[in-house]
Amino acid sequence: MMIGAVQLGVLAACVVVLVPMAMAGWHLSRNKMLFFSGALFIALAVCVHLTPYFPSVSDLVTSVSSVVVFDHRVSCINSVNEVVWDVKPKIQVQIVDANASSVDFYEKSWDWAKTSKVSACEFQKLSKSNASDLLNGSWVVVAGDSQARLVALSLLNLVLGSDSKRMESVRGDLFKRHSDYNILVEEIGLKMDFIWAPYVTNLTSLIRELKRKKSYPDVLVMGEGLWHMLHITNSSDYSVALQMLRNSVVSFLPLLSDLGTNGPVTGSESVRSPHLFWLGMPMLINSMLNTQEKREKMSDTMWHAYDRALGDSKLLHQTGGPMVLMDIESLTWNCGPRCTEDGMHYDGTVYEAAVHIMLNALLIESHQTL
Ligand SMILES: *[C@@H]1O[C@H](CO)[C@@H](O)[C@H](O)[C@H]1NC(C)=O
Ligand SMILES: *[C@@H]1O[C@H](CO)[C@@H](O)[C@H](O)[C@H]1NC(C)=O
Ligand SMILES: *[C@@H]1O[C@H](CO)[C@@H](O)[C@H](O)[C@H]1NC(C)=O
Ligand SMILES: *[C@@H]1O[C@H](CO)[C@@H](O)[C@H](O)[C@H]1NC(C)=O
Ligand SMILES: *[C@@H]1O[C@H](CO)[C@@H](O)[C@H](O)[C@H]1NC(C)=O
Repeated sequence: MMIGAVQLGVLAACVVVLVPMAMAGWHLSRNKMLFFSGALFIALAVCVHLTPYFPSVSDLVTSVSSVVVFDHRVSCINSVNEVVWDVKPKIQVQIVDANASSVDFYEKSWDWAKTSKVSACEFQKLSKSNASDLLNGSWVVVAGDSQARLVALSLLNLVLGSDSKRMESVRGDLFKRHSDYNILVEEIGLKMDFIWAPYVTNLTSLIRELKRKKSYPDVLVMGEGLWHMLHITNSSDYSVALQMLRNSVVSFLPLLSDLGTNGPVTGSESVRSPHLFWLGMPMLINSMLNTQEKREKMSDTMWHAYDRALGDSKLLHQTGGPMVLMDIESLTWNCGPRCTEDGMHYDGTVYEAAVHIMLNALLIESHQTL
Protein backbone atom coordinates (compact mmCIF):
# COMPACT_ATOMS: atom_id res chain seq x y z
CA MET A 1 0.00 0.00 0.00
CA MET A 2 2.79 2.41 0.88
CA ILE A 3 4.58 1.84 -2.39
CA GLY A 4 1.33 2.27 -4.28
CA ALA A 5 0.75 5.59 -2.54
CA VAL A 6 4.26 6.83 -3.29
CA GLN A 7 3.96 5.91 -6.94
CA LEU A 8 0.60 7.62 -7.09
CA GLY A 9 2.12 10.68 -5.50
CA VAL A 10 4.84 10.84 -8.10
CA LEU A 11 2.30 10.33 -10.85
CA ALA A 12 0.15 13.06 -9.37
CA ALA A 13 3.07 15.46 -9.24
CA CYS A 14 3.84 14.77 -12.89
CA VAL A 15 0.23 15.37 -13.85
CA VAL A 16 0.07 18.58 -11.87
CA VAL A 17 3.14 19.88 -13.63
CA LEU A 18 2.63 18.47 -17.11
CA VAL A 19 -1.06 19.09 -17.71
CA PRO A 20 -0.88 22.84 -17.08
CA MET A 21 2.27 22.93 -19.24
CA ALA A 22 0.39 21.27 -22.04
CA MET A 23 -2.42 23.75 -21.51
CA ALA A 24 0.01 26.61 -21.66
CA GLY A 25 0.75 25.34 -25.15
CA TRP A 26 -2.93 25.96 -25.81
CA HIS A 27 -2.50 29.64 -25.04
CA LEU A 28 -4.13 29.69 -21.64
CA SER A 29 -3.36 32.72 -19.57
CA ARG A 30 -1.02 32.36 -16.62
CA ASN A 31 -3.82 32.87 -14.10
CA LYS A 32 -5.95 30.20 -15.68
CA MET A 33 -2.96 27.89 -15.71
CA LEU A 34 -2.36 28.49 -12.02
CA PHE A 35 -5.99 27.88 -11.34
CA PHE A 36 -5.99 24.60 -13.25
CA SER A 37 -2.88 23.31 -11.64
CA GLY A 38 -4.24 24.24 -8.21
CA ALA A 39 -7.52 22.49 -8.88
CA LEU A 40 -5.77 19.45 -10.26
CA PHE A 41 -3.47 19.33 -7.31
CA ILE A 42 -6.31 19.39 -4.84
CA ALA A 43 -8.35 16.80 -6.75
CA LEU A 44 -5.41 14.46 -6.99
CA ALA A 45 -4.50 14.95 -3.35
CA VAL A 46 -8.02 14.02 -2.33
CA CYS A 47 -7.89 10.93 -4.54
CA VAL A 48 -4.53 9.89 -3.19
CA HIS A 49 -5.66 10.22 0.37
CA LEU A 50 -8.86 8.35 -0.23
CA THR A 51 -7.20 5.54 -2.14
CA PRO A 52 -6.13 3.45 0.86
CA TYR A 53 -9.72 3.28 2.01
CA PHE A 54 -11.14 1.92 -1.19
CA PRO A 55 -10.05 -0.85 -3.51
CA SER A 56 -9.79 1.71 -6.27
CA VAL A 57 -11.25 5.05 -7.04
CA SER A 58 -12.88 3.84 -10.21
CA ASP A 59 -14.52 1.00 -8.30
CA LEU A 60 -15.76 3.55 -5.86
CA VAL A 61 -17.25 5.72 -8.57
CA THR A 62 -19.00 2.83 -10.30
CA SER A 63 -20.27 1.39 -7.06
CA VAL A 64 -21.63 4.74 -5.93
CA SER A 65 -23.40 5.32 -9.21
CA SER A 66 -24.80 1.80 -9.37
CA VAL A 67 -26.05 2.10 -5.81
CA VAL A 68 -27.82 5.31 -6.72
CA VAL A 69 -29.40 3.79 -9.83
CA PHE A 70 -30.18 0.58 -7.98
CA ASP A 71 -31.81 2.49 -5.12
CA HIS A 72 -33.96 4.47 -7.49
CA ARG A 73 -35.10 1.32 -9.25
CA VAL A 74 -35.79 -0.57 -6.05
CA SER A 75 -37.71 2.36 -4.63
CA CYS A 76 -39.75 2.69 -7.83
CA ILE A 77 -40.50 -1.03 -7.89
CA ASN A 78 -41.71 -0.62 -4.34
CA SER A 79 -43.90 2.36 -5.27
CA VAL A 80 -45.37 0.91 -8.43
CA ASN A 81 -48.48 -0.31 -6.60
CA GLU A 82 -49.33 3.11 -5.17
CA VAL A 83 -52.47 3.75 -7.09
CA VAL A 84 -55.40 5.94 -6.13
CA TRP A 85 -58.97 5.54 -7.30
CA ASP A 86 -61.74 7.87 -8.16
CA VAL A 87 -65.03 6.02 -8.03
CA LYS A 88 -68.18 8.06 -8.50
CA PRO A 89 -71.75 7.49 -9.60
CA LYS A 90 -72.35 7.86 -13.31
CA ILE A 91 -74.29 10.95 -14.28
CA GLN A 92 -76.94 9.20 -16.35
CA VAL A 93 -78.13 6.65 -13.80
CA GLN A 94 -81.39 5.87 -15.55
CA ILE A 95 -79.94 2.98 -17.52
CA VAL A 96 -82.85 0.99 -18.89
CA ASP A 97 -80.73 -2.07 -19.56
CA ALA A 98 -82.16 -4.78 -17.32
CA ASN A 99 -78.79 -6.54 -17.51
CA ALA A 100 -76.82 -3.66 -16.15
CA SER A 101 -75.19 -4.70 -12.93
CA SER A 102 -74.51 -2.60 -9.87
CA VAL A 103 -70.84 -2.09 -10.80
CA ASP A 104 -71.94 -0.45 -14.04
CA PHE A 105 -73.45 2.43 -12.12
CA TYR A 106 -70.06 3.77 -11.12
CA GLU A 107 -67.43 5.58 -13.09
CA LYS A 108 -64.02 4.34 -12.03
CA SER A 109 -60.68 5.80 -12.83
CA TRP A 110 -57.27 5.29 -11.35
CA ASP A 111 -53.84 6.82 -11.46
CA TRP A 112 -50.60 6.64 -9.57
CA ALA A 113 -50.49 8.66 -6.37
CA LYS A 114 -49.22 12.18 -6.87
CA THR A 115 -46.66 12.11 -4.07
CA SER A 116 -43.19 13.31 -4.98
CA LYS A 117 -41.70 9.88 -4.41
CA VAL A 118 -44.10 8.23 -6.83
CA SER A 119 -43.98 11.06 -9.35
CA ALA A 120 -40.21 10.76 -9.53
CA CYS A 121 -40.67 7.29 -11.02
CA GLU A 122 -42.63 8.66 -13.98
CA PHE A 123 -45.01 5.75 -14.20
CA GLN A 124 -47.19 5.82 -17.28
CA LYS A 125 -50.32 4.16 -18.48
CA LEU A 126 -49.09 2.40 -21.55
CA SER A 127 -50.82 2.50 -24.87
CA LYS A 128 -51.42 -0.48 -27.08
CA SER A 129 -48.33 0.34 -29.09
CA ASN A 130 -46.19 0.86 -25.97
CA ALA A 131 -47.25 -2.57 -24.75
CA SER A 132 -46.59 -4.09 -28.16
CA ASP A 133 -43.10 -2.64 -28.24
CA LEU A 134 -42.37 -3.85 -24.76
CA LEU A 135 -43.70 -7.36 -25.26
CA ASN A 136 -42.55 -7.79 -28.85
CA GLY A 137 -41.18 -11.30 -29.24
CA SER A 138 -41.84 -12.25 -25.63
CA TRP A 139 -43.25 -15.30 -24.01
CA VAL A 140 -45.59 -14.51 -21.16
CA VAL A 141 -46.98 -17.15 -18.83
CA VAL A 142 -49.84 -16.36 -16.46
CA ALA A 143 -50.68 -19.13 -14.02
CA GLY A 144 -53.14 -19.32 -11.20
CA ASP A 145 -56.83 -19.16 -10.36
CA SER A 146 -59.62 -16.92 -11.55
CA GLN A 147 -57.79 -13.74 -10.55
CA ALA A 148 -54.91 -14.73 -12.81
CA ARG A 149 -57.37 -15.41 -15.60
CA LEU A 150 -58.75 -11.91 -15.27
CA VAL A 151 -55.23 -10.49 -15.46
CA ALA A 152 -54.48 -12.53 -18.58
CA LEU A 153 -57.67 -11.20 -20.13
CA SER A 154 -56.75 -7.67 -19.25
CA LEU A 155 -53.29 -7.99 -20.75
CA LEU A 156 -54.73 -9.29 -24.01
CA ASN A 157 -57.28 -6.49 -23.93
CA LEU A 158 -54.45 -4.01 -23.96
CA VAL A 159 -52.39 -5.72 -26.64
CA LEU A 160 -55.27 -6.58 -28.98
CA GLY A 161 -57.53 -3.61 -28.34
CA SER A 162 -60.55 -4.15 -26.13
CA ASP A 163 -63.18 -3.91 -28.85
CA SER A 164 -61.50 -5.94 -31.55
CA LYS A 165 -63.27 -8.95 -33.08
CA ARG A 166 -60.32 -11.00 -31.95
CA MET A 167 -60.89 -10.04 -28.35
CA GLU A 168 -64.45 -11.33 -28.42
CA SER A 169 -63.34 -14.81 -29.30
CA VAL A 170 -60.46 -14.62 -26.80
CA ARG A 171 -62.92 -13.76 -24.09
CA GLY A 172 -65.05 -16.79 -24.94
CA ASP A 173 -62.11 -19.20 -25.02
CA LEU A 174 -60.34 -17.85 -21.99
CA PHE A 175 -63.44 -18.24 -19.88
CA LYS A 176 -64.03 -21.89 -20.54
CA ARG A 177 -63.93 -22.88 -16.94
CA HIS A 178 -60.87 -24.52 -15.46
CA SER A 179 -58.87 -24.87 -18.61
CA ASP A 180 -55.60 -23.68 -20.04
CA TYR A 181 -55.42 -21.21 -22.87
CA ASN A 182 -52.70 -20.32 -25.37
CA ILE A 183 -52.48 -17.55 -27.89
CA LEU A 184 -49.89 -16.29 -30.31
CA VAL A 185 -50.31 -12.65 -31.26
CA GLU A 186 -48.49 -12.87 -34.56
CA GLU A 187 -48.16 -9.15 -35.27
CA ILE A 188 -45.78 -8.78 -32.38
CA GLY A 189 -44.65 -12.36 -31.87
CA LEU A 190 -46.16 -12.41 -28.41
CA LYS A 191 -46.84 -15.84 -27.05
CA MET A 192 -49.10 -15.99 -24.04
CA ASP A 193 -50.09 -19.02 -22.02
CA PHE A 194 -52.68 -19.04 -19.34
CA ILE A 195 -52.29 -22.05 -17.10
CA TRP A 196 -55.11 -23.04 -14.81
CA ALA A 197 -53.30 -23.72 -11.57
CA PRO A 198 -55.73 -23.44 -8.69
CA TYR A 199 -53.38 -24.70 -5.97
CA VAL A 200 -49.90 -23.59 -5.00
CA THR A 201 -48.71 -27.14 -5.64
CA ASN A 202 -49.83 -26.72 -9.24
CA LEU A 203 -47.55 -23.69 -9.53
CA THR A 204 -44.67 -25.64 -8.04
CA SER A 205 -45.25 -28.39 -10.61
CA LEU A 206 -45.29 -25.79 -13.35
CA ILE A 207 -41.92 -24.45 -12.25
CA ARG A 208 -40.55 -27.97 -12.08
CA GLU A 209 -41.82 -28.61 -15.59
CA LEU A 210 -40.26 -25.43 -16.99
CA LYS A 211 -37.01 -26.32 -15.28
CA ARG A 212 -37.05 -29.80 -16.72
CA LYS A 213 -37.66 -28.46 -20.22
CA LYS A 214 -35.15 -25.67 -19.64
CA SER A 215 -37.66 -23.24 -21.04
CA TYR A 216 -37.74 -19.84 -19.51
CA PRO A 217 -40.62 -17.49 -20.17
CA ASP A 218 -39.71 -13.82 -20.28
CA VAL A 219 -42.48 -12.93 -17.91
CA LEU A 220 -44.08 -15.25 -15.40
CA VAL A 221 -47.10 -14.09 -13.45
CA MET A 222 -48.39 -16.38 -10.73
CA GLY A 223 -50.96 -16.06 -8.03
CA GLU A 224 -53.08 -18.32 -5.92
CA GLY A 225 -54.90 -18.20 -2.63
CA LEU A 226 -58.68 -18.02 -2.90
CA TRP A 227 -59.19 -21.47 -4.34
CA HIS A 228 -57.02 -22.98 -1.65
CA MET A 229 -58.89 -20.99 0.99
CA LEU A 230 -62.24 -22.26 -0.20
CA HIS A 231 -61.32 -25.88 -0.81
CA ILE A 232 -58.64 -26.60 1.76
CA THR A 233 -59.16 -23.80 4.29
CA ASN A 234 -55.90 -24.38 6.09
CA SER A 235 -53.43 -21.54 6.26
CA SER A 236 -50.60 -23.72 7.59
CA ASP A 237 -50.96 -25.94 4.58
CA TYR A 238 -50.90 -22.85 2.36
CA SER A 239 -47.80 -21.66 4.15
CA VAL A 240 -45.95 -24.95 3.67
CA ALA A 241 -46.93 -24.99 0.00
CA LEU A 242 -45.71 -21.41 -0.49
CA GLN A 243 -42.35 -22.24 1.02
CA MET A 244 -41.95 -25.15 -1.34
CA LEU A 245 -42.88 -22.88 -4.19
CA ARG A 246 -40.32 -20.34 -3.10
CA ASN A 247 -37.55 -22.93 -2.99
CA SER A 248 -38.55 -24.13 -6.38
CA VAL A 249 -38.63 -20.63 -7.87
CA VAL A 250 -35.26 -19.73 -6.37
CA SER A 251 -33.59 -22.77 -7.82
CA PHE A 252 -35.34 -22.13 -11.12
CA LEU A 253 -33.80 -18.76 -11.63
CA PRO A 254 -30.65 -18.70 -13.68
CA LEU A 255 -29.91 -15.36 -12.18
CA LEU A 256 -31.57 -14.56 -8.95
CA SER A 257 -30.97 -12.09 -6.20
CA ASP A 258 -30.20 -8.95 -8.09
CA LEU A 259 -32.53 -6.66 -9.76
CA GLY A 260 -29.35 -4.77 -10.63
CA THR A 261 -28.01 -6.96 -13.37
CA ASN A 262 -30.26 -8.51 -15.87
CA GLY A 263 -27.57 -9.37 -18.34
CA PRO A 264 -27.05 -12.78 -19.83
CA VAL A 265 -25.46 -15.39 -17.60
CA THR A 266 -22.18 -16.86 -18.61
CA GLY A 267 -22.60 -19.93 -20.72
CA SER A 268 -22.95 -20.98 -24.31
CA GLU A 269 -26.36 -19.46 -24.74
CA SER A 270 -27.55 -16.41 -22.99
CA VAL A 271 -30.46 -17.07 -20.68
CA ARG A 272 -32.20 -14.12 -19.18
CA SER A 273 -33.76 -14.50 -15.87
CA PRO A 274 -37.54 -14.33 -16.20
CA HIS A 275 -39.38 -11.40 -14.71
CA LEU A 276 -41.48 -12.80 -11.92
CA PHE A 277 -44.69 -11.37 -10.57
CA TRP A 278 -46.93 -12.53 -7.78
CA LEU A 279 -50.56 -11.69 -8.02
CA GLY A 280 -51.83 -10.88 -4.55
CA MET A 281 -55.24 -11.88 -3.26
CA PRO A 282 -58.11 -9.41 -3.54
CA MET A 283 -59.92 -8.13 -0.49
CA LEU A 284 -62.94 -10.27 0.19
CA ILE A 285 -66.18 -8.57 1.11
CA ASN A 286 -67.71 -11.31 3.15
CA SER A 287 -71.32 -10.17 3.03
CA MET A 288 -71.18 -10.03 -0.76
CA LEU A 289 -69.81 -13.54 -1.30
CA ASN A 290 -72.36 -15.52 -3.26
CA THR A 291 -72.61 -18.82 -1.41
CA GLN A 292 -73.01 -19.79 2.20
CA GLU A 293 -69.93 -22.00 1.96
CA LYS A 294 -67.81 -19.09 0.80
CA ARG A 295 -69.11 -16.81 3.52
CA GLU A 296 -68.20 -19.38 6.16
CA LYS A 297 -64.85 -20.56 4.92
CA MET A 298 -63.50 -17.34 3.49
CA SER A 299 -63.79 -15.31 6.66
CA ASP A 300 -61.75 -12.22 7.36
CA THR A 301 -59.74 -14.17 9.92
CA MET A 302 -58.89 -16.81 7.36
CA TRP A 303 -58.02 -14.17 4.79
CA HIS A 304 -55.56 -12.56 7.18
CA ALA A 305 -54.02 -15.90 8.06
CA TYR A 306 -53.45 -16.53 4.34
CA ASP A 307 -52.02 -13.08 3.89
CA ARG A 308 -49.58 -13.66 6.76
CA ALA A 309 -48.56 -16.96 5.23
CA LEU A 310 -47.62 -15.11 2.06
CA GLY A 311 -45.56 -12.60 4.02
CA ASP A 312 -43.82 -15.37 5.95
CA SER A 313 -43.01 -17.33 2.81
CA LYS A 314 -40.39 -14.80 1.72
CA LEU A 315 -41.62 -15.16 -1.80
CA LEU A 316 -41.88 -11.43 -2.41
CA HIS A 317 -39.30 -8.73 -2.99
CA GLN A 318 -40.34 -6.90 0.17
CA THR A 319 -39.21 -9.88 2.18
CA GLY A 320 -36.09 -10.56 0.15
CA GLY A 321 -37.76 -12.96 -2.25
CA PRO A 322 -37.69 -13.30 -6.03
CA MET A 323 -41.13 -12.01 -6.99
CA VAL A 324 -42.55 -8.54 -7.51
CA LEU A 325 -45.97 -8.14 -5.95
CA MET A 326 -48.88 -6.96 -8.03
CA ASP A 327 -50.80 -5.66 -5.09
CA ILE A 328 -54.36 -6.68 -5.85
CA GLU A 329 -55.15 -6.30 -2.16
CA SER A 330 -54.50 -2.57 -2.14
CA LEU A 331 -56.08 -2.07 -5.56
CA THR A 332 -59.29 -3.80 -4.51
CA TRP A 333 -59.32 -2.24 -1.06
CA ASN A 334 -58.98 1.23 -2.52
CA CYS A 335 -61.47 0.67 -5.33
CA GLY A 336 -63.89 -0.66 -2.72
CA PRO A 337 -67.24 -2.45 -2.63
CA ARG A 338 -68.56 -0.45 -5.59
CA CYS A 339 -66.03 -2.26 -7.78
CA THR A 340 -67.29 -5.78 -7.17
CA GLU A 341 -70.50 -7.71 -7.42
CA ASP A 342 -69.56 -10.93 -5.72
CA GLY A 343 -67.11 -9.60 -3.15
CA MET A 344 -64.29 -11.52 -4.80
CA HIS A 345 -63.98 -10.78 -8.49
CA TYR A 346 -63.58 -7.12 -9.27
CA ASP A 347 -64.31 -4.74 -12.08
CA GLY A 348 -62.14 -4.93 -15.19
CA THR A 349 -60.45 -1.63 -14.37
CA VAL A 350 -58.83 -3.22 -11.30
CA TYR A 351 -57.12 -5.84 -13.44
CA GLU A 352 -56.33 -3.21 -16.04
CA ALA A 353 -54.49 -1.25 -13.35
CA ALA A 354 -52.71 -4.43 -12.33
CA VAL A 355 -51.48 -4.94 -15.88
CA HIS A 356 -50.15 -1.39 -16.09
CA ILE A 357 -48.42 -1.90 -12.77
CA MET A 358 -46.78 -5.02 -14.11
CA LEU A 359 -45.68 -3.39 -17.36
CA ASN A 360 -44.22 -0.39 -15.53
CA ALA A 361 -42.29 -2.69 -13.22
CA LEU A 362 -41.12 -4.54 -16.29
CA LEU A 363 -39.93 -1.30 -17.82
CA ILE A 364 -37.94 -0.51 -14.70
CA GLU A 365 -36.48 -3.98 -14.46
CA SER A 366 -35.38 -4.10 -18.04
CA HIS A 367 -34.46 -0.41 -17.92
CA GLN A 368 -35.99 -0.02 -21.29
CA THR A 369 -37.42 3.31 -22.22
CA LEU A 370 -39.23 1.92 -25.25
C1 LIG B 1 -79.73 -9.44 -21.32
O1 LIG B 1 -79.19 -10.75 -21.17
C2 LIG B 1 -79.88 -11.72 -21.92
C3 LIG B 1 -79.31 -13.08 -21.58
O2 LIG B 1 -78.05 -13.01 -21.02
C4 LIG B 1 -79.74 -11.39 -23.40
O3 LIG B 1 -80.44 -12.37 -24.18
C5 LIG B 1 -80.31 -10.03 -23.65
O4 LIG B 1 -80.10 -9.66 -24.99
C6 LIG B 1 -79.65 -9.00 -22.74
N1 LIG B 1 -80.33 -7.72 -22.91
C7 LIG B 1 -79.68 -6.61 -23.19
C8 LIG B 1 -80.50 -5.36 -23.33
O5 LIG B 1 -78.46 -6.57 -23.35
C1 LIG C 1 -41.00 -6.48 -33.30
O1 LIG C 1 -39.59 -6.69 -33.39
C2 LIG C 1 -39.15 -6.97 -34.70
C3 LIG C 1 -37.66 -7.28 -34.67
O2 LIG C 1 -37.10 -7.06 -33.45
C4 LIG C 1 -39.45 -5.79 -35.61
O3 LIG C 1 -39.05 -6.10 -36.93
C5 LIG C 1 -40.94 -5.53 -35.58
O4 LIG C 1 -41.23 -4.39 -36.34
C6 LIG C 1 -41.44 -5.33 -34.17
N1 LIG C 1 -42.88 -5.21 -34.20
C7 LIG C 1 -43.53 -4.29 -33.49
C8 LIG C 1 -45.01 -4.31 -33.64
O5 LIG C 1 -42.95 -3.50 -32.77
C1 LIG D 1 -53.43 -29.24 -9.04
O1 LIG D 1 -53.00 -29.91 -7.87
C2 LIG D 1 -53.99 -30.76 -7.33
C3 LIG D 1 -53.48 -31.26 -5.98
O2 LIG D 1 -52.12 -31.25 -5.88
C4 LIG D 1 -54.26 -31.90 -8.29
O3 LIG D 1 -55.21 -32.77 -7.77
C5 LIG D 1 -54.77 -31.28 -9.60
O4 LIG D 1 -54.93 -32.29 -10.56
C6 LIG D 1 -53.82 -30.22 -10.10
N1 LIG D 1 -54.50 -29.52 -11.18
C7 LIG D 1 -53.91 -29.18 -12.30
C8 LIG D 1 -54.73 -28.45 -13.29
O5 LIG D 1 -52.74 -29.47 -12.52
C1 LIG E 1 -53.31 -28.11 8.02
O1 LIG E 1 -52.13 -28.31 7.26
C2 LIG E 1 -51.03 -28.74 8.06
C3 LIG E 1 -49.80 -28.76 7.18
O2 LIG E 1 -50.04 -29.39 5.95
C4 LIG E 1 -51.36 -30.10 8.66
O3 LIG E 1 -50.30 -30.55 9.45
C5 LIG E 1 -52.64 -29.97 9.50
O4 LIG E 1 -53.01 -31.25 9.96
C6 LIG E 1 -53.76 -29.38 8.68
N1 LIG E 1 -54.88 -29.09 9.55
C7 LIG E 1 -56.08 -29.54 9.32
C8 LIG E 1 -57.15 -29.13 10.29
O5 LIG E 1 -56.33 -30.25 8.35
C1 LIG F 1 -45.80 5.39 -25.27
O1 LIG F 1 -46.06 5.88 -26.56
C2 LIG F 1 -46.21 7.27 -26.60
C3 LIG F 1 -46.55 7.65 -28.03
O2 LIG F 1 -47.27 6.64 -28.65
C4 LIG F 1 -44.93 7.95 -26.14
O3 LIG F 1 -45.10 9.35 -26.14
C5 LIG F 1 -44.58 7.47 -24.75
O4 LIG F 1 -43.34 8.00 -24.36
C6 LIG F 1 -44.52 5.97 -24.72
N1 LIG F 1 -44.31 5.50 -23.37
C7 LIG F 1 -43.18 4.93 -22.98
C8 LIG F 1 -43.11 4.45 -21.60
O5 LIG F 1 -42.24 4.82 -23.73
